[in-house]
Amino acid sequence: MPEMNPKYPDLLKTAKEAAKRAHAPYSKFAVGAALLGEDGRVFTGCNVENASFGATICAEQTAMVKAVSEGCRKFVAVAVHCAETDDCWPCGICRQVLNEFAPNIDVVVDSGKGSVTVIRLPELLTRSFGPKDLPT
Ligand code: THU
Repeated sequence: MPEMNPKYPDLLKTAKEAAKRAHAPYSKFAVGAALLGEDGRVFTGCNVENASFGATICAEQTAMVKAVSEGCRKFVAVAVHCAETDDCWPCGICRQVLNEFAPNIDVVVDSGKGSVTVIRLPELLTRSFGPKDLPT
């Protein structure tokens, strides 16, 4: 497990707050994310579902798009909180979206009873395809 940054428990609390703003009338599965930039800024996100289900945006993607659109492109960690379950890791598409800007990001989740688990993205997205694979 990567080293526990003392900021991570608070980052998870911020993700938990963000989950309260989820728009999840279809799945009833509220998710919050808090993305810590290298410059110290924190960008939150929640899932925003849509009546046309495929148009749904995950919490991590909301946070990432907010960050990039605000000029932050380097990240230390993302905390993810699911209201319904512990040990809720980012979905495959979110892993890919995180990989675009932060291939070594720490992913932080609640593991229940106040414990926090941190795993680096390469362990969640092995043999990834990303910017490194395309000619620039
Ligand atoms: N969801 C996220 O927000 N992030 C994930 O990593 C997993 C799934 C959302 C999408 C949808 O609104 C709900 O959870 C159920 O899939």
